[in-house]
Amino acid sequence: MKRDLLTFSDWHSESFKALISLAQTIKTTPLAYRDALAGKSVVALFEKPSLRTRVSFDVGINKLGGHLVYLDSQANNLSGREDNVDVAANLACWADAIVARVYQHETLQMFAQASKVPVINALCDRFHPCQALADLLTLTEVYGDLKDVTVAYIGDGNNVTHSLMIASALAGCNVTVVTPKGYETDVQITHLAAQLAEHNQTTLTVSNDLQAAQGAQVLYTDTWLSMGDTTPLEQIKDTFMPYQINDQLMAATGAQYVMHCQPAHRDLEITGSLIDSQYSLLMQQAENRMHGQNAILVNLLAEPNVE
Ligand code: CP
Ligand code: NVA
Repeated sequence: MKRDLLTFSDWHSESFKALISLAQTIKTTPLAYRDALAGKSVVALFEKPSLRTRVSFDVGINKLGGHLVYLDSQANNLSGREDNVDVAANLACWADAIVARVYQHETLQMFAQASKVPVINALCDRFHPCQALADLLTLTEVYGDLKDVTVAYIGDGNNVTHSLMIASALAGCNVTVVTPKGYETDVQITHLAAQLAEHNQTTLTVSNDLQAAQGAQVLYTDTWLSMGDTTPLEQIKDTFMPYQINDQLMAATGAQYVMHCQPAHRDLEITGSLIDSQYSLLMQQAENRMHGQNAILVNLLAEPNVE
C-alpha cells in the first residue's frame, strides 16, 4: 500500500522521531545509503519557484542512487492543459514517487488520490512538511532531547508555521506562535496541532504579544509575504516591523539561536547581521533539507518502513 507525505498530521510521535533518527543516520553514513533508491525515478513538479527544495531533492536523490526529473509546470505550460488527476496518474506510470510544490493543498490531495506512487508535499498554501522535518532535525542536533526546548515562531502565520507546530508536537518540542493581529495561523490547523501537543505532552501557545516569546531558546521567522501573495510590502510593513527578529528581541527574550526557512529578506523579518551571526541556524536548516528528505524517500520507497 503506497503512502503519501502531505502533512505529517497523521503520524505518531514515535514514527516521526524514528524518521529524524533515520535522517541523522543517512547524514552520518551516506555510503550505506548510496544504492537505497537504485533504479528509482522521482518526478518533481513545481508550480512555484524554489532554490532549496528543488536542489536538495535533486542532489539528495542522486546521493541515494536514484534519478530526478524536474518539471516546471509554468514554463512547460502544464497547468490547464489537462486535469490534475490525469497528470498524476500519468506520472505514476513512470515514476516511483511524485514531489510537488503547488498553490493549493487540494491539488496535492487530488494527486495523491490519482497516483499509485507516493506523493510528497514540497510546499503548498497550508503546509511545508519537508521544511519542518529539517527544522526538527536541526533542533535535535543542537539540543538532543527537545523536552525542555521552546521555539518561538514570530511573524506571519503561514504554511511554515503550520508544519512547525505539527512537527514540533511530534518531536516533543514546545512552540509559541506570535503573530500580528489578523495574521494568525489557520484555526483548524492550530486546533489539530494543539491536540497533537496535548497528546505528546508539549505546549503550544498562540499570541499577538511578543512577551509570549520570553524564555524561548530559539526564535524562528519566515517571510511576511508568501509566494503568490500579491499584497504590496508597503501595505503590511508597519504592522510587521515590530515583530522583526533582531538583536533587541534576542536580548529581550534570552534566545540562544535564530531560525528561518529561507528565502530570507534581510532587515525585514530578520536583520542581516543576525543571519550572519553565531546565533544563526539557517545554513544547518538548509543542509538538513536534503538529509530529512532523503529519510522521507527511504522511508516511503525503500524497505524496511519505519512508519
Ligand atoms: N525553504 C524553502 O522551501 O526554500 P525554497 O523555496 O528555495 O525551496
Ligand atoms: N511561507 C513561504 C515559505 C517559502 C519556503 C512561502 O510560502 O512562500
